[in-house]
Amino acid sequence: MIDIHCHILPGVDDGAKTLEESVGMARLAYEDGVRAIIATPHFTDSLRVKRETVLRLTADVQDALELAGIPLKVYPGNELRLESFDFVKEQVRHQSFCYLGRNGNFVLLEQRWAEYTDSTPEVIRWFADQGVQPIIPHPERHIFFRTEPQLLLDCLEAGAWTQVSADSLIGKNSKEAEEFAYWMIDGNYVHTLATDAHNLIRKPNLSEGFARVRQRGGAKQAEAIMERMNFIWSEL
Ligand SMILES: [Fe+2]
Repeated sequence: MIDIHCHILPGVDDGAKTLEESVGMARLAYEDGVRAIIATPHFTDSLRVKRETVLRLTADVQDALELAGIPLKVYPGNELRLESFDFVKEQVRHQSFCYLGRNGNFVLLEQRWAEYTDSTPEVIRWFADQGVQPIIPHPERHIFFRTEPQLLLDCLEAGAWTQVSADSLIGKNSKEAEEFAYWMIDGNYVHTLATDAHNLIRKPNLSEGFARVRQRGGAKQAEAIMERMNFIWSEL
């Protein structure tokens, strides 16, 4: 399995604090069946973990995993916040963040927490026109998607994929997030699963997330999600 959303890089955001913690997270992920992780530190207006930093730390973590004997591959990425269309355009122009992997085919495009960004469908189409597939992380955790699901459906219509967090399905986020995540399974709106792991407590638990999807949505839906994630992996 591949985990496409994980704050495993040390000392740059609210994720792993030290390289030892990064290795610990990777070990848990490995034991859970994960063989590849995309490192996705935050890239927001106020916290910009830039491309050069991501590439350097991804290599550092990879080296540490080799030393620790954990056969798991780490790819560079970012969780890019859609502060505004202009903000995104500027970061793309300056190549200041990392797409998922080195080929630039996917972007993890996060919503602001305070309110929905109205230009989102436009931004999604703009990326798609450049051959980039936007993936919206954890829509189930955003209050505006839960109260107005049509906003999410508009994003899907524009071509976005979703990433539901395993923690939401397990009930470790809010009750509302859990319910909305299951609503997404029922509607077949889950494109990918990820851990959004931050440390050894908010930890890698992808297989449990898959078990929940299988339970609720059936083996076929779980298999389709797995295949899509393997496709992403093959494009990195
Ligand atoms: Fe995240």
